[in-house]
Amino acid sequence: MKLGRREFLAGSLGVGALAMLAPRSAFAADSKIEIMLNEPIGTINPDVYGHFVEHLGAVVYDGIWVGEKSKIRNYEGIRADLVDALKKIKPGVIRYPGGCFADQYDWRDGIGPREKRPTRVNFWADTTYKAPQNYQKLEGGPQKYESNYFGTDEFARFCKMVGAPMYLAANLRTRDARVFQEWLDYCNSPANTTSWSKERAKNGSVDPYKVEYWGIGNESWGCGGDFLPEEYATEFRRFTAWNPTYGVKYKFIGSGPNGGDTNWTRRFFSKLTEKGSGQINKLYGWGLHYYSGSTGKQIANDFDVNDWYDLIQRSDRMETLIEDHWQVMGEFDRDRRVKICVDEWGAWHWQDPDMPDGWLYAYASTLRDALISGLNLDTFQRHADKVVMANPAQLINTIHSLFIAAEDKFAMTPNYHVFEMYMPHAGATAIRSEFISDRVGFSRFDAQKKETKASIWGLNGSASIKDKTVTVTAVNPDHLNAKETEINLRGAKIVSAEARVLTSNDLHTRNTFAQPNALVPKNEAVTVGTGGSLVYKFAPASVTRLTLQIA
Ligand code: AHR
Repeated sequence: MKLGRREFLAGSLGVGALAMLAPRSAFAADSKIEIMLNEPIGTINPDVYGHFVEHLGAVVYDGIWVGEKSKIRNYEGIRADLVDALKKIKPGVIRYPGGCFADQYDWRDGIGPREKRPTRVNFWADTTYKAPQNYQKLEGGPQKYESNYFGTDEFARFCKMVGAPMYLAANLRTRDARVFQEWLDYCNSPANTTSWSKERAKNGSVDPYKVEYWGIGNESWGCGGDFLPEEYATEFRRFTAWNPTYGVKYKFIGSGPNGGDTNWTRRFFSKLTEKGSGQINKLYGWGLHYYSGSTGKQIANDFDVNDWYDLIQRSDRMETLIEDHWQVMGEFDRDRRVKICVDEWGAWHWQDPDMPDGWLYAYASTLRDALISGLNLDTFQRHADKVVMANPAQLINTIHSLFIAAEDKFAMTPNYHVFEMYMPHAGATAIRSEFISDRVGFSRFDAQKKETKASIWGLNGSASIKDKTVTVTAVNPDHLNAKETEINLRGAKIVSAEARVLTSNDLHTRNTFAQPNALVPKNEAVTVGTGGSLVYKFAPASVTRLTLQIA
């Protein structure tokens, strides 16, 4: 039986009873973390540290692709600063080429000599969704008219440079299963076998890319075709039936729900399995997309304290979404063969006014977004038995990005630093942990300025173990109060500890081109008490990693 936080506190720690007996000073800590070393949840799939690249705004041009002749430092046309920084955080799978763009894309446009590649209108050319006037008025540029200079081979090169597996999303709305099969052939057929393998060799890669991860459409309930779940299930079956494998074990990812739409999940699985429960085997992962949006003035660094909490709490909905969809999936998949791929997540603010016009949804994330990164990664880790992949939207220059770049200017956002801090979790075993802390209250206002009282947990996080190292990561959303926390490790003794902390006195702190290092994590020494006891004070408005060495 899983105990809720309150029952755990009362039952396991016996706080109420003990408090009457013990001197007050014994309870100086206001929060507790209990880590159950002997309660493994599952291995944290390194793909939980995946990424997402779409031909949208300036993600590809000029976030990733600057061209071989550019004066910007590059490796075969790819921005060198990006490659160098991304390599350091050992990325999981990178999803490409969309997003909504994928269902309007013909991969065959993006191969061969660049000057011969066709120019097409980009999916996002006419968008009005959170698109500022200046973007709407743009008349040209690669953000509106896709040059196809960056395609499958350039993406494969980029993935090789940074050491990440490729995850390609097939076009289900405007191209048929044959075009998808040809893409499988181009990417995976052994050297000198099919005509597509020879074409690939001409384009620089004799050896196959051996792509395992394939998305079957994207948001098929919306921009990916406006399908009903039953219609999409039929398409999914067709696209995944009888494909040549070329010796590659495919991991197909289905276009899952928009946020809390369990109806989409239930009706899809119901239709999929109408033809027999074996159909489930075709599905490696069920894609879940959730954006928490923005609050207040909808600009990344323009918010008040209530907006701070409001957005953090909206982002925290991820936990319920995972649990709800998992439950529905279990109605059809008793053996739990299908896992969850959260292949789009993040906050979503408006473009910063000082970003160039074509940089759709580009903004410098703040400390608030960093906390959102931390709490999402912690959530995925607490559900390591369910979530095998996660990809923030998107890698660079759009939405919840890890980087911003424009011409020769480049900066790492606070989200990047959270990914760097959380890296030791990748491939480790997630272990059950309970975070106990008073909730923090705030006010939420609707469009009519009507106030509702709300609250969010005071401290939350996750824990994992690899060899003799226990990694604990935690988010303290409280903008005023540090959390003096007693950390109990059940099943081993802590011999040493160190901390790495991302925080600032100003909630709006962020890294800009002018100040790229305004918000970076700092290491802190931590003293472990005799007998292995540990009390640590989590700074207000912070993301923290504790590295514990155990006996
Ligand atoms: O990440 C931006 C867009 O958000 C993606 O293209 C789409 O899948 C989602 O709606």
